[in-house]
Amino acid sequence: MTGLQKANAIRQRKHGVRLATLTAYDYPTARLLDEAGVDLLLVGDSLGMVVLGYPDTTHVTMEHMLHHTAAVARANTKAIVVADLPINSYQTPEMSVANARRLVEAGADAVKLEGGIRQAEKVRAITEAGIPVCGHLGMLPQRVLEEGGYKKKGKTPEQASAILEGAKALIEAGVFAIVLESVIPETARHLTRELSVPTIGIGCGGDTCDGEVAVITDLLGSYPWFVPPFAQPEADLASNISRAVQAYRSRVQA
Ligand code: KIV
Ligand code: NA
Repeated sequence: MTGLQKANAIRQRKHGVRLATLTAYDYPTARLLDEAGVDLLLVGDSLGMVVLGYPDTTHVTMEHMLHHTAAVARANTKAIVVADLPINSYQTPEMSVANARRLVEAGADAVKLEGGIRQAEKVRAITEAGIPVCGHLGMLPQRVLEEGGYKKKGKTPEQASAILEGAKALIEAGVFAIVLESVIPETARHLTRELSVPTIGIGCGGDTCDGEVAVITDLLGSYPWFVPPFAQPEADLASNISRAVQAYRSRVQA
């Protein structure tokens, strides 16, 4: 299937089975997730924190994203691979199209960018170039420094309607889905009801959106130094790794 066909299939899931989405940044993880039937593999710019050791996503570059998108794409057979456009890579429509094309050449089926009304023109330019776009509203990590932290969004009726207006502008411009991050459950549920494309939630409460996305290291317990309050780990890989390495060290040194 082409990227456009995959994106259309995701759009149809508005009225189907909820979307199971995970981030992936490397070949073996992406291959396991694809084989496990994950719908959407997100090469998120959370890469900056959970793989590259930066304090936030504002350090991530196109070169980082291209390198990891290519690794994920080499592993993937069925899922739609969505790559984040990193900070400062989509400042004009022309720049947005050029960088989206580079991510597609690296193997992405689609791209994601953060923001609403002010990004609509860029979303339109990218979709008109034949590249599917996923939106991202609510908490926007690329703006964490301006915002002074990771805060809950959509708490007042004014904030909720601002997100709704942003979402409508993105849909009008052609997005096939919208990630909602740290939007309070009531608002996430309302947006999900109002919007014609699937919403994919993180930190929005369970069962408020048309799908969920989790950062793979949060699911696997492989990045124990920072775990967001909404994470629901299904494994404790960090402990397993420590135990295996200590066993190895004892064996070698004995
Ligand atoms: O970069 C990322 O992992 C993301 C998800 C949290 C949606 O954008
Ligand atoms: Na991201």
